[in-house]
Amino acid sequence: MRVAIIGSGPAGFYAAEALLRRTDEVVQVDMFDRLPTPYGLVRAGVAPDHQNIKAVTRVYEKTSARPEFRFFGNVRLGKDLTVEDLRRHYNQIVYAVGNEADRRMGIPGEGMPRCTPATVFIGWYNGHPDYRHAQIDLSVPRVAVVGNGNVAVDAARILLRSPAELEKTDIAAHALAALRNSQVHEVYILGRRGPEQAAFTPVELKELGEMEGVDPVVAPEDLADCASVEPGSQQDKNLKILQSFAARERGRDTKKLHLRFRVSPTEVLADADGKVCGLKLEKNSIETQAGGSTVARGTGEFEMLEVGMVLPAIGFSLDPIDGVPYDEAARIVANEDGRVVDPVSRAVVANEYVVGWARTGPRGLIGSHKAASAHVVAHMAADGLGLSARELPPRDAIADLLRKRGVQFISFEDWKRLDDVEVSRGERRAAPRDKIVDVEAMLALLGQR
Ligand SMILES: Cc1cc2nc3c(=O)[nH]c(=O)nc-3n(C[C@H](O)[C@H](O)[C@H](O)COP(=O)(O)OP(=O)(O)OC[C@H]3O[C@@H](n4cnc5c(N)ncnc54)[C@H](O)[C@@H]3O)c2cc1C
Ligand SMILES: NC(=O)c1ccc[n+]([C@@H]2O[C@H](COP(=O)([O-])OP(=O)(O)OC[C@H]3O[C@@H](n4cnc5c(N)ncnc54)[C@H](OP(=O)(O)O)[C@@H]3O)[C@@H](O)[C@H]2O)c1
Repeated sequence: MRVAIIGSGPAGFYAAEALLRRTDEVVQVDMFDRLPTPYGLVRAGVAPDHQNIKAVTRVYEKTSARPEFRFFGNVRLGKDLTVEDLRRHYNQIVYAVGNEADRRMGIPGEGMPRCTPATVFIGWYNGHPDYRHAQIDLSVPRVAVVGNGNVAVDAARILLRSPAELEKTDIAAHALAALRNSQVHEVYILGRRGPEQAAFTPVELKELGEMEGVDPVVAPEDLADCASVEPGSQQDKNLKILQSFAARERGRDTKKLHLRFRVSPTEVLADADGKVCGLKLEKNSIETQAGGSTVARGTGEFEMLEVGMVLPAIGFSLDPIDGVPYDEAARIVANEDGRVVDPVSRAVVANEYVVGWARTGPRGLIGSHKAASAHVVAHMAADGLGLSARELPPRDAIADLLRKRGVQFISFEDWKRLDDVEVSRGERRAAPRDKIVDVEAMLALLGQR
């Protein structure tokens, strides 16, 4: 049985592991990624000051060492390879392409200079090749981060961490240099609902109170009138941490991290140069709907927040990929429980599957993909009886096809060479690695350009 997995993030790697562990069938796995480097958001999303989380890549390295596994980096589905190519060369296909596009606030002024989606800011500090030239202007004193999830918390933390804390991490060198000269000393994290509905998790919230020279600021009135929460729940823990922040004495020369609740941006305001100079906010009341869920409703009361940069961190989505059935409403690969379907008729597209954020949207931690990808692999095993009898082109034909098209794909051994170079470059600043952020430079280093 020959399987193509598109995307080398956690969901793709856990799918590979489950496929390679099958005892009923010998499975050969070819994994493709549009970047020369593997690991998706573990490399390009997880914050540089969270190295312990990145250690999960050791598990993926074990998978990559299996003899039936091959990696083809620098190969983009929809450009270097088509879905038709995959159908010809493989028995089954797994889309594990994540959610690489950002979601929009849909308000006037969005998109002007210094209103930068979290995708860009995070990609920039993590050295994602797509964002290495992003214009991140840190000459402004105040920044608003919109959203109350862990991504908003990550962005705020990286903006306020001291250079001494950051240089020990694998933050991209260009970002470290810019952050050393940063004028940002006040960050606002803006939640549209209340503190009891915030999506961030207690460990991440608590960390905001543990940074060198940074005071978290919470207005006690924002914590009054919260809906009751279950004792011991995430919400309960969050509220207790926020209460401790509200009660804290603040230093005089410290940077400030404000956590504001029940406010929605309604307009990004521009200065005479057309760059962000403020954010118009509407106060919200929280409405409970039938079924118990809550929504934020504007009260008609507005305020202006003077900020020089806005970072919306309000979720992610998938942009369509040529030939891959796409669910326009959910902005994911059209699927039923991981089986790809036609988005209109909902008929199953035989032998095609989807895992990870491309299947569910941007929800869930790295570890959650292990069981979720294994669940989809169980469908693949159930559906695939007899499939391996189909005669396919020789296994190396896919590499020949890529070469014929002039695609300079890189193997897992090539990546390990890049990895070694990055790690030894990192030693200069006592960091775990200093990332190479330019695809051309990676290929040149491997002697392919
Ligand atoms: C900023 C941020 C920080 C996070 N921090 C944590 C954390 O600390 N702890 C935690 O548990 N979870 C964290 N998460 C969540 C975690 O990263 C995700 O749950 C997980 O990465 C999703 O896995 P995935 O494989 O679906 O997608 P991804 O990790 O995004 O992988 C998708 C892969 O597909 C490739 N790809 C995309 N399109 C194509 C194409 N057309 N052709 C070929 N390849 C393609 C991409 O290059 C990428 O490598 C974080 C998420 C974000 C956004
Ligand atoms: N350290 C970590 O473990 C870590 C770090 C980063 C990410 N992650 C994980 O990655 C996943 C994605 O994280 P995320 O932060 O992107 O998503 P998230 O947890 O879903 O949070 C998104 C936030 O954006 C808000 N939002 C959405 N649309 C908005 C709008 N139009 N205006 C204002 N606010 C809006 C949401 O508010 P509502 O709730 O009101 O919709 C929510 O607060 C999560 O599972 C997260 O835990 C983990």
